[in-house]
Amino acid sequence: MTSWTAADIPDLTGKSAIVTGANSGIGLPTALELARHGAGVIVASRNPDKGRAAVEEIRREVPGAQVEFGQLDLADLASVRRFAASVDRLDLLVNNAGVGLISRQETKDGFEMQFGTNHLGHFALTGLLLPLLLKSPGARVVTVSSDAHKAGRIDFDNLGLTHGYGRMSAYARSKLANLLFTLELRRRAEKAGADLISVATNPGTTATNFVNVGPLKPLLSLFMRSPEAGALSSLYAATSPAIHGGEWVGPKLQLMAPSKTARSDALAERLWEVSAELTGVRFEAIAEAN
Ligand SMILES: NC(=O)c1ccc[n+]([C@@H]2O[C@H](COP(=O)([O-])OP(=O)(O)OC[C@H]3O[C@@H](n4cnc5c(N)ncnc54)[C@H](OP(=O)(O)O)[C@@H]3O)[C@@H](O)[C@H]2O)c1
Repeated sequence: MTSWTAADIPDLTGKSAIVTGANSGIGLPTALELARHGAGVIVASRNPDKGRAAVEEIRREVPGAQVEFGQLDLADLASVRRFAASVDRLDLLVNNAGVGLISRQETKDGFEMQFGTNHLGHFALTGLLLPLLLKSPGARVVTVSSDAHKAGRIDFDNLGLTHGYGRMSAYARSKLANLLFTLELRRRAEKAGADLISVATNPGTTATNFVNVGPLKPLLSLFMRSPEAGALSSLYAATSPAIHGGEWVGPKLQLMAPSKTARSDALAERLWEVSAELTGVRFEAIAEAN
């Protein structure tokens, strides 16, 4: 537990950051605070209107902010590749975007939507941006997970969830994958001697579009964290010198223990190999040592 606030973010002048899903919810204040502290920020959003509106909002709040829009649809690997190819430098990647609790749908590439967007899209994005991250000493990858991961199970024979689909269980699986990815990236980077910090967060229950509870939303929002409070775990993970990699940062910025399943090296390794196969992204820069 710490009294750390966004005011404690160090000067980020000269740093380049990407925040996925930065047009709303937790992602918007994450991008805004990074920009307020001097970082150049790409608001990576699938919807150009929403993405540009977020850029304008940040510029209004932080005159002179170095912020721009980048179009990224994590549910489309061609879009992920186009976006990654448009970036020329990077110190910080915040894998924040997410879908949850939806009826069964598929990404452009035919993956179950929650796994495909929350995990495979971010897996591919991180791998494609890895060469840029490795040029930046102390680069960080922050991946937003959730307490929901504790209920997550991965059946490699039913990755498409073509049978037994549940909105919650599919979400839990995708958030488990986020944690397994974070920890495996850290292990692989370390083994390769790469100067890269990989850290996961849990923002806590936050009043965003994600928590879609219809007419009850204004009432329930009173009991939830604000998006600004929800963003603190990402901002802390992204900028605090106390973070060295492999942590799971909770809503009160406490270091939490992921579930036993999330800490399984064997499961993480298998998920990595399967994700590389499905996306065609192989993290070549650190692959040789692994
Ligand atoms: N809110 C909570 O209580 C809570 C708790 C634990 C963890 N989380 C995690 O926090 C993260 C942020 O969620 P949030 O609560 O801020 O929800 P949100 O307001 O719904 O924001 C989610 C963001 O992800 C974007 N997104 C969805 N699918 C995308 C795709 N295919 N490509 C690119 N962007 C996409 C959304 O874009 P659109 O605006 O176009 O839909 C939106 O910008 C998620 O990873 C979520 O799992 C949230």
